Amino acid sequence: MSAIPQGFVAVAQVSELAAGEMKFAAVDSQRIVLANVEGRFYALRDVCGHRNAPLSRGRLIGHLIECPLHFALFDVRTGKLVDGPISADVPAYEVRVEGETVYIKP
Ligand code: FES
Repeated sequence: MSAIPQGFVAVAQVSELAAGEMKFAAVDSQRIVLANVEGRFYALRDVCGHRNAPLSRGRLIGHLIECPLHFALFDVRTGKLVDGPISADVPAYEVRVEGETVYIKP
């Protein structure tokens, strides 16, 4: 049995998220978008800094998340804005996978 990494919170099971998919998760009052890119898991705050759209409703294109509202693009690995009508990045969370469980550090 795997230990829960210190300071991390379980947010999903690996089987819930196939490669190329995203999933919304709530941790306390924070909205999180989880993404599986080629078997690696990433987590960003699920709030676009432009008009607060949920990124989890957008599209995952390789390592980029496209905002569903005005199509800003963020690098899912870092939260950095790649293109769009704003200049703000979104926070990225540290992710760990232990056994079948995906954890993030909120
Ligand atoms: S709300 Fe995301 S680009 Fe406008």
